[in-house]
Amino acid sequence: MTTQTTTRSLAGTQIYPIGLGAMPMSLAGRPDEAQSIRTIHAALDAGANLIDTADAYCRDESEVGHNERLIAKAIRDRRDGVIVATKGGHTRPGGDWDLDGSPAHLRAACEASLRALETDRIDLYQYHRPDPRVPYAESVGALKELQDEGKIRWIGLSNVNVEQLEEALGIAEIVAIQNQLSLEFTSPLTKGEVQAATERGIAFLPWSPLGGIGNAESPGGVNPVKQAAERHGVSPQQVALAWLLSLGPTVIPIPGASRPETITDSLKAARLELMPEELEAIAEAAGA
Ligand SMILES: NC(=O)c1ccc[n+]([C@@H]2O[C@H](COP(=O)([O-])OP(=O)(O)OC[C@H]3O[C@@H](n4cnc5c(N)ncnc54)[C@H](OP(=O)(O)O)[C@@H]3O)[C@@H](O)[C@H]2O)c1
Repeated sequence: MTTQTTTRSLAGTQIYPIGLGAMPMSLAGRPDEAQSIRTIHAALDAGANLIDTADAYCRDESEVGHNERLIAKAIRDRRDGVIVATKGGHTRPGGDWDLDGSPAHLRAACEASLRALETDRIDLYQYHRPDPRVPYAESVGALKELQDEGKIRWIGLSNVNVEQLEEALGIAEIVAIQNQLSLEFTSPLTKGEVQAATERGIAFLPWSPLGGIGNAESPGGVNPVKQAAERHGVSPQQVALAWLLSLGPTVIPIPGASRPETITDSLKAARLELMPEELEAIAEAAGA
């Protein structure tokens, strides 16, 4: 049996092994605000203490910061011990996803996130995605400056490869990387990204850990997942998340949710112990 620990570490802070991905509460098709707030409260009530957001989680440029404002409102009276991880570097012109990794943009975005999150220091600020028009070192250097000014507690990187991580580590302390990882998307395993995080004690936050919005119904479509779910009497989503947790001691998946039921179910995966032969069968079927 694998042994899931009760908490994992992010920069030395104890984190429930699974966080809440808040993106589905702000994109097109989002629920009303009351349901979103119930979803955030359900996650906190179940023990989660990490919420992932971004300034770009909104419908378009007219409402940048929508998701951050929603989270700030939901946790206004219960902020203690809650780590909010946000991101900058994406823009949403006309609802598209564009990039701006320039130091000037990152500074303005961070300052807007501080206001949206109703805080004077962001817990974890992640550079959302490398902008090919801006040298990576310049973008990371901008985050380091914001950290030196006290506006950011910790720096994280998203959609980053091992080479970029190493370059960034020469500039600043990096405490988390956030890349796509699921039964459907396993390249961080073959490209050594999970291993690089594990070896350095850096948290690895898999995004779209259930295959992404609209695809989470049957994670991986992988039979061993269904079989393990039936054997343990849990949802296949819990099995998918437990498999992710088995990939490294610093892995902290951030399943998205827009309903209390789904996040409450997902968070139970932290207590699910899969047998080595189940994990092997799942990995093999996923091609991992
Ligand atoms: N850094 C990046 O570039 C990047 C990119 C994408 C996402 N992210 C982050 O990663 C988070 C997660 O990714 P994601 O939201 O794209 O995809 P996901 O977590 O793979 O899937 C989210 C969907 O799964 C459903 N779900 C969650 N738990 C479930 C359960 N136990 N049973 C059944 N359905 C369940 C949710 O349904 P309901 O909506 O009905 O609750 C939600 O719509 C995002 O919220 C965001 O914070 C980061």
